[in-house]
Amino acid sequence: MAGNNKTNSALSASNDPLQGNDNLNIDQYLEQFHADFDPVYNMLMDYQCAVMAVETKFNILNNRLSIQGEHNPIESIHSRVKSLDSIIRKLEKLHLPIELESVEENLKDVAGVRVICSFVDDIYKIAENFLAQEDVTLIKRKDYIKDPKPSGYRSLHLIVKIPIYTENGKKDMYVEVQMRTIAMDFWASLEHKLRYKKNLNPETAEKLAKELEACAEESAKLDEKMLRVREQIAAN
Ligand code: GTP
Ligand code: MG
Repeated sequence: MAGNNKTNSALSASNDPLQGNDNLNIDQYLEQFHADFDPVYNMLMDYQCAVMAVETKFNILNNRLSIQGEHNPIESIHSRVKSLDSIIRKLEKLHLPIELESVEENLKDVAGVRVICSFVDDIYKIAENFLAQEDVTLIKRKDYIKDPKPSGYRSLHLIVKIPIYTENGKKDMYVEVQMRTIAMDFWASLEHKLRYKKNLNPETAEKLAKELEACAEESAKLDEKMLRVREQIAAN
């Protein structure tokens, strides 16, 4: 891979055990295969565990806060662990070594949890409760609801570190949490389609981007109005 030092086994194509091992018997081959790939599987498993731990925290908060209020603050939770392809592409893009240690030190969005709330105030209430937990360490907070991106993108982003408990002991893992309303999520998925649309002529792309920006404004106003209606319902 151009411009990178590859020192780590299975993340490097040149060490692919499927190639150049014709002289190995199947047991030797599997031994080699496990030596190369188990560390990668284990790392992805660690991220999966981190995702599960964070999801559980949000599910518990949703249940507990719904007892106090009249509604479930969380509409849905969607999680993913970045694919190995995306991990390697991102390391390459950032000119970082293609190594496991490099992933764990530098990429903070391998584990991703998206929390969709009905109302904007629920986002802040859930975030506050989540961050107040002793084993959740806030690394970075980006509030694109208060300060939307020029595209119109709105969401609250939290990069946190949380511990997972493995057979080898405790391990701290980065997790990226994106919190948004249903309306923000609807907008983001549509904008994502435009972002990854290839072969669009520049004029059309610009026109659609402007329309989307206007949609984001409208959508934010709708979120505000809905919140006010809900508050009035609660007050009566
Ligand atoms: P990445 O390198 O892409 O992770 O970006 P970053 O580290 O600068 O973080 P940022 O907070 O800008 O974005 C993180 C993630 O938020 C992205 O991977 C997207 O999932 C989402 N995101 C950020 N900006 C936009 C946007 O304008 N549109 C959409 N649809 N999603 C966005
Ligand atoms: Mg990202």
